[in-house]
Amino acid sequence: MNENLRLLSGGANLALAQRVAELLDVSLCQADADALTPGRFPDGEVRVEIQQTVRGKEVFVVQPTSPPVNDHLIELLLMIDALRRASANMICAVIPYFGYARQDRKKKGRVPISARLVANLLETAGVDRVLTVELHAGQIQGFFDVPVDHLRTDALFAEHIREHHSDWLSNLVVVSPDIGGVWRARRVAKELEKPLAIVEKHRRSSKEEEPEVYNVIGDVAGHDVLLVDDILATGRTLCLAAERLRAEGAKDIFAACTHGLFTGEALSLIEEAPLRKVLVTDTIAHRAEVTGHPKVEIVSVAKLLADAIQRIFSRKSVSDLLVRS
Ligand code: R5P
Repeated sequence: MNENLRLLSGGANLALAQRVAELLDVSLCQADADALTPGRFPDGEVRVEIQQTVRGKEVFVVQPTSPPVNDHLIELLLMIDALRRASANMICAVIPYFGYARQDRKKKGRVPISARLVANLLETAGVDRVLTVELHAGQIQGFFDVPVDHLRTDALFAEHIREHHSDWLSNLVVVSPDIGGVWRARRVAKELEKPLAIVEKHRRSSKEEEPEVYNVIGDVAGHDVLLVDDILATGRTLCLAAERLRAEGAKDIFAACTHGLFTGEALSLIEEAPLRKVLVTDTIAHRAEVTGHPKVEIVSVAKLLADAIQRIFSRKSVSDLLVRS
């Protein structure tokens, strides 16, 4: 790998950054005097000090803005600022999970468009381009004036299933757990050459306390099912959809969710739900109880990211790896 490339990691997902570094055959650049990850001042403020020269270099900074979102976002902004002031030639923020993405429009009055503000902050800090994975909404790319390379995980999941779970494929229907994610599930269905169904959830009125109604559009009775979603947070969307599908006569139910946040009681919900296996990627660093859970399986995005970094650095097309929407 070229001497002009630098790979740097924030504290959010050091393991993923290390895997990417191995694949690129580079060493991770230090962002702090004591460790590879940024440290803290005694009052808790983030301390960043890039340990190698980056003057004239092309620097890729790996940092998902996963929980604690605000800490990880500030670390990323400070690293970008430090790199800019240290005369890096190009700074690419590699954000495998882009936090605040679900606040991408004004659903009602007096709320922020947080995803847009995060994009503005990154640009103000001095980022030249962004590399990200499975954005909640593709239009977030338009919040940036700098180039955004948006990688998708449909082919990654499809390949993983073909390679490790071919037994899932004989009788499978791919299902989106909500209308908003249909395009995402359709891509996986296309990759696997399987039919598509949809769980449509809505409230009969605009009142939050009104229970949601779940309708299944498409034929799942007697079929195995693969639920596809971008985010697994509380696990509620996935588990309620799985229960509804089981009630409709679905047999084995599997899931593939790109970003596994596993907040709150998510793991307990998954344990009780009629889900046989949940695939998530390593865009977010997982705690041991997630990686060790018998229902959870991790699919790595490291190669996808390494390939994209390699292509960006070599000024080659990233289009084979990119969303084609
Ligand atoms: C919603 O629009 C997203 O695509 C996910 O379905 C949602 O964020 C999952 O959240 P939870 O796991 O908390 O239901």
